[in-house]
Order: sequence, then structure tokens, then C-alpha cells
Amino acid sequence: MKIFHYHTPELTPTDSLPDCAVVIDVLRATTTIATALNAGAEAVQAFSDIDKLMQVSASLPPEKVLRAGERGGAKVEGCDLGNSPLDCTQDVVQGKRLFLTTTNGTRALQRVEKSPVVITGAMVNRQTVVDYLQEKQPETLWLVGSGWQGAYSLEDSVCAGAIALSFFQADPAVVGNDEIIGAIALYQQWQSQLVQMFELASHGKRLLGLDCREDLEYCAKTDILDVLPIQTEPGILVKFSS
Ligand code: MLT
Repeated sequence: MKIFHYHTPELTPTDSLPDCAVVIDVLRATTTIATALNAGAEAVQAFSDIDKLMQVSASLPPEKVLRAGERGGAKVEGCDLGNSPLDCTQDVVQGKRLFLTTTNGTRALQRVEKSPVVITGAMVNRQTVVDYLQEKQPETLWLVGSGWQGAYSLEDSVCAGAIALSFFQADPAVVGNDEIIGAIALYQQWQSQLVQMFELASHGKRLLGLDCREDLEYCAKTDILDVLPIQTEPGILVKFSS
């Protein structure tokens, strides 16, 4: 297995695709996606463009639709929700399709949507992602951080390291790029102090400035959800069932 970590979608190769791409946006899109599907959402449909989200979501019966929009960490006018995973409770999302657009996470999904397999990872469902990858053994695996408008995000890298660690520990034949080796070291250093790390991260500070401390604390919880969001059509994620 070859495991490549890319800090942002912009850094992924444009002339190749992996066997499997894991999109990571710990604060908060992929945490929100895992939480919503775990709480019973029918699907999550990701859009990088707000107008397209509004247009497509209008074609479904209103009672089946939930619109979640975030820009700059704040809720988009005209959406039902922002991008807080804490809003995705069962009574809110059960049986509905979550139409989601965020500053970076949904763009990362769009970047890799042509990969044969696209799944999403966060700290909350890390082990479920690892279990899936250990079973499927993709030859080439990309762990794609969402970053922030093209810049590096600590929290996405630490999650990439959390996913990759066991593969490198179990098999000396596993290879990867320098970024994944750095990400593993980051996770080994901070695994028991993820909230503290998120408080140091630029987007963590942005969210603290928006009074979202509870989001940081939730997004830092490791292996609490047994859910694997998997793409069935470009931009559409459902809960994987084996
Ligand atoms: C992103 O897309 O960068 C994040 O999900 C933004 C957020 O939810 O705060």
C-alpha cells in the first residue's frame, strides 16, 4: 500500500487518481458528515457552490431537505443550519438529505470525486475508516486535507496521521510521502491533547472567536462513531453498509 497525504486539495496530483481517497475536514465538515449519517440522515450531498445547492435541493420535497451552509465558519443566510456537527441530532436529520456547502471541505470532495472510492474521515470515525481500509487494502491511498483556502490545517494532518499510523506500524512494506510521516509524528505527539492542539490551530482559533468551543471538543473525540461515509455518486455520500 502507498499512502499519500496532501495538506490541501490544491496539492493533489492533477494527472492521476488513487484507488481510494479519504477526504478529511476535521473542523468541521467531515465530522458533520459522519455525525449526520450516524444520526439517520438519508444522505449528505456536497456542493462547492451555494446557488447550485439551492437549485438542486429545491427539486426534493421540502420535508426531505435540510440545507447546511458555512462560509468563514459562520452560517450562510437562507440555510437551515451552519456546519456544526452538534446541530445534526436525530430529531433534526432523521430521514432527510443534508445539502451541505462549506468553505473548504466540500471543495476537497469535488477535487477527488472521480476516484474509484471516496470516503470521508474525521477523528470521530477514525477507527471505522481504518477498519474499512484494512479490509479493502487499496494499492494507492490519498488522505486529502481540506485546509483553509489553500493553506495548511493542523487538524486535518493530525487526522491523516491517526488514520495512517497503524498501517505503517503493521507492515514495513507500506510506503508514503514525507507529509504522511510528518502527520504520523504530529498525531503521536498530540493524540491525548487534541483539544489543546485545535485551540492552537488557525481554524480552531477562528471557531473559538465564533463561540464554538463545544464544536472543537466534539470534533476532537476519537473513534466515537461507527459510521463510514462513502460516495455513491459524485458529491453524494451515504452510510456504508458491508
Ligand atoms: C471548512 O469547510 O473549511 C470547514 O468545514 C469550515 C467550518 O465548518 O468551520
